[in-house]
Amino acid sequence: MRTNDLIWKKREGQELTEEELHHLIAGYVKNEIEDYQVAAWAMAVFFQGMTAKEQAALTKVMIQSGEQLDLSPIEGLKVDKHSTGGVGDLTTLLLVPLLAAMGLKVAKMSGRGLGHTGGTIDKLESIPGFRVDLGREEFIQQVRRWNLALIGQTKEMVPADGKLYELRDVTATVESIPLIASSIMSKKIAAGADVIMLDVKVGNGAFMKSLAEGRKLAKAMVQIGNQLGRRTAAVLTSMDQPLGNMIGNALEVREAIELLQPKSVEQVTDDALLLTVELAARISYLAGQSASIEEGKEKALETLCTGCALQSFRQWIEAQGGVGAVVEDPDRYLPKAQNKEVIVSAQSGYVKSLQALPIGKAASLLGAGRILKGDAIDLAAGVIIYKRQGHKVEAGEPLAEIHYNDGQHRKEALQEIAKAYEIVEEPVPAPTALLLGEV
Ligand code: URA
Repeated sequence: MRTNDLIWKKREGQELTEEELHHLIAGYVKNEIEDYQVAAWAMAVFFQGMTAKEQAALTKVMIQSGEQLDLSPIEGLKVDKHSTGGVGDLTTLLLVPLLAAMGLKVAKMSGRGLGHTGGTIDKLESIPGFRVDLGREEFIQQVRRWNLALIGQTKEMVPADGKLYELRDVTATVESIPLIASSIMSKKIAAGADVIMLDVKVGNGAFMKSLAEGRKLAKAMVQIGNQLGRRTAAVLTSMDQPLGNMIGNALEVREAIELLQPKSVEQVTDDALLLTVELAARISYLAGQSASIEEGKEKALETLCTGCALQSFRQWIEAQGGVGAVVEDPDRYLPKAQNKEVIVSAQSGYVKSLQALPIGKAASLLGAGRILKGDAIDLAAGVIIYKRQGHKVEAGEPLAEIHYNDGQHRKEALQEIAKAYEIVEEPVPAPTALLLGEV
């Protein structure tokens, strides 16, 4: 098989077979095929797209490039969720213990934050002692014992993705839906879950800026998952404003602890909790635990409101070596920034928009995020939001608060926050619904 012919075939809009894709991807990982040939193929994919069958085949050969996690020693269906990334997206911190408390088995691999988006691994590492480097056996035993475990992505899993992503990054081929879909799904499927719930974020703070693009990506990923034998579904959710009110690693853990406190159903009003319940309901339904999404929602709300999910969060922390008492006294155990500064509104009016992207950038500039993989981060740094879209604000009233240790980029962070807020005189309608669609 000649790589040149495969590039030609794709350039002409034809479908590559699994065998052909295997030649390309396996050869690339073994350094037998050069960067420039794979780059030419990726650009051909960018313009010509891929059929659903081809996307599933690409995902399969990418998975075969490395190790797969065998979760069969854990009885029953294993569930997972993936978010395409956003600002203040603390859903995993809420959803994992909620699902575990509902009796579902959650065996999850997560990533670190990059750019303006956060990563669950960094957030959990702000809890003293929390280990994300469990061995395979330990990981499996923990899910069997406590219904939940979370570890970082290993290098041995889907090596093709790391190599391909780096190449796409420098050849203007990141924004290709088939390539994004196979990149995400190869990692999810290799991690072993039977049920995969996808949360595709749409809006200014997300990878996908429009609903149409988001829907295409969601459909592509759902098709891949289902073709490769996983029960897969997706929701499309808004990332126009940050999901939570605290953005930054320890700050998001603090918010998760607050949100998981026992409450009445009427008190479940925060976007982050509403989304968590929607996701839990769908996962429960996909896993066959509930007869309908509605029934799943009732179960999720009950488990959340009685405080069972908070107990499960504590068990999770302790099982992974962390200080469980953080859930009773977050102030004592979570890292705190030396400097705090409140940003007040210069005018009275209503918040027309609170853009997620500049808020994410501000948090990152204060130290909460990384520019390059491997950069050090400040777990205590970040932004707290006091006023969201639609809120009324008086001149001099706090809009947000910044937390930082190193003030090197403080000024730019403040400029980003100023960019994020648009305040107008007329009342603003409530923000569009969080749940924009589903696949
Ligand atoms: N996230 C991934 O994991 N892969 C992509 O290609 C894009 C976003």
